Amino acid sequence: MTAILGISAFYHDSAAALVIDGRIVAAAQEERFTRIKHDPAFPTHAIDYCLREGRLSPANLDYVAFYDKPLTKFERLLETYLAYAPRGFRSFRLAMPLWLKDKLHMRRTLRRGLGGPTRARLIFTDHHESHAASAFFPSPFDQAAIVTLDGVGEWSTATFGVGESNRIRLVDHIVFPHSLGLLYSAFTYYCGFKVNSGEYKLMGLAPYGRPIYQDLILDRLVDLKPDGSFWLNMEYFNYCQGLTMTNHRFHRLFGGPPRAAESPLEQRHMDVAASIQAVAEEAVLRIGRYVRAQTGMRHLVLAGGVALNCVANGRLLREGDFDDLWIQPAAGDAGGALGAALFVWYQLLNKPRRPEKRDSQQGSFLGPGFTTDQVAQFLSEQDASGQRFADENELLDHIAGLLADGKVVGWFQGRMEFGPRALGARSILGDPRSPAMQATMNVKIKFRESFRPFAPAVLQERAPEWFDLKPGQESPYMLLVAPVLDHRRVPVDPATLRTMQHDPDLRRRVNVVRSEIPAVTHVDYSARLQTIDEERNPRFHRLLDAFDRLTGCPVLVNTSFNVRGEPIVCTPADAYRCFLATDMDVLVLEDIVVAKDAATREAGLETREAYLAKFQLD
Ligand SMILES: [Fe+2]
Repeated sequence: MTAILGISAFYHDSAAALVIDGRIVAAAQEERFTRIKHDPAFPTHAIDYCLREGRLSPANLDYVAFYDKPLTKFERLLETYLAYAPRGFRSFRLAMPLWLKDKLHMRRTLRRGLGGPTRARLIFTDHHESHAASAFFPSPFDQAAIVTLDGVGEWSTATFGVGESNRIRLVDHIVFPHSLGLLYSAFTYYCGFKVNSGEYKLMGLAPYGRPIYQDLILDRLVDLKPDGSFWLNMEYFNYCQGLTMTNHRFHRLFGGPPRAAESPLEQRHMDVAASIQAVAEEAVLRIGRYVRAQTGMRHLVLAGGVALNCVANGRLLREGDFDDLWIQPAAGDAGGALGAALFVWYQLLNKPRRPEKRDSQQGSFLGPGFTTDQVAQFLSEQDASGQRFADENELLDHIAGLLADGKVVGWFQGRMEFGPRALGARSILGDPRSPAMQATMNVKIKFRESFRPFAPAVLQERAPEWFDLKPGQESPYMLLVAPVLDHRRVPVDPATLRTMQHDPDLRRRVNVVRSEIPAVTHVDYSARLQTIDEERNPRFHRLLDAFDRLTGCPVLVNTSFNVRGEPIVCTPADAYRCFLATDMDVLVLEDIVVAKDAATREAGLETREAYLAKFQLD
């Protein structure tokens, strides 16, 4: 037996992954255990969980793989700061102590952090190699082109290469500071969202705007080459010298200072969002065309933070030259832990690889799971009562009925997801046909006002009846955007159309009923969809089927099980606390259904404020 532990830490989204004899046994992000979103600390809890899941102690590990080479990264920091000295000195000083303390002494930190003696060999893989490995090795393809698009890894920030059988080979890269990810993050910052987590909000804002600044961006900020590589004009950016990302020249270009967080969104911000999204899509499409021509591969795999831009992914699939696309669901740095471990198994140890028909990511359900007995035990400790269903059909019919009645359901089943999206294991579900559902779920459950619609989960086999998707095309990890089909859209009268296009309050715009499933349809009729198949997620598939039989609609709203700023719930205790503190109507923990009654509602109201105060706004 060969056991390999992969670790990513110290930058963003720490995580651990365990690969035993080539099989992904466990993977989880540290934030889920510490309840600190994007926790960058050494992933002690995630490692502990992975070892437990694999029934191993640190002494049984053969290899520990770290997703980054600390010294390369250190040299990059040093050289960048020296090049921009002395303005860079302040942020240099701020970054240094951390580096000195943890990163340069990685070997010692790793050995200490494992929580027990080990003879494991320590391997440091390259940042982009880790991303590339996480994209190719679990994919269903024997051969594929690989593209990694990142904020910033080591030197390179975008790479492409080829995966064949059990090897990956990176061919070329674009170097820091010329990064598509950082360009996108600079605009995220400018529009008043948090860098490294608000990028998806910028993407969600884009459909409200017109890309009127696209030419300006391509003229002044970015020299986008035909091959998709780009050269940023650093006169407009500030991320080498300072702690902000854009400077006064940038602000002058777009007609004002950066938007303050939580302040009203103006049409200008929406147009800026639409413009940078258009530029990002164009860059991704060009990279796709170039890589297709260079490698001759028919399939493409993607990873790196930018691969979470599902709008660009959808266009790449529809307009690009590749037959098929597979994206690592933990595309950000957390996935680097998995990539590093798989890299050791295939590339270093040269083990044979047999791609699985769907993929070997197992639906990304790689985290902790709990039995119904464990749930029952927990609930009795809380003096809480629930109804235990012995018959699964009865359970699912019951829940489908509640959903059709407009109830909001917390859905806690099986092993927790690895990656930023809830895929039906730690989800909150609702009826997408309800015109009020978007507002209800945001205001009463998530405690936020959102201008974005929710994501639909749809039965795989029925998806082409609702969304513009090739028959057989999957989106199991919610990483593709597809339009709602014409015949599912509803006519909008001229007055409502004006609201939809011009109302200053985006919540009124997003709540215009424009399709049969308004809660999941964006203002441009796009939907960020997840297809549910029987193999990866059998019980969720059966629930959707029960809802479909009852209503004729094979779609449910699927949003992550958390309040704003909170990491997705991990344990039954996390889920129960969140259920109490919110206006969620029903909680399904494995086979047990807990309904909100007057007493729990009251108790929840008392704890709500303290609960919400624990999480930072994102
Ligand atoms: Fe990365």
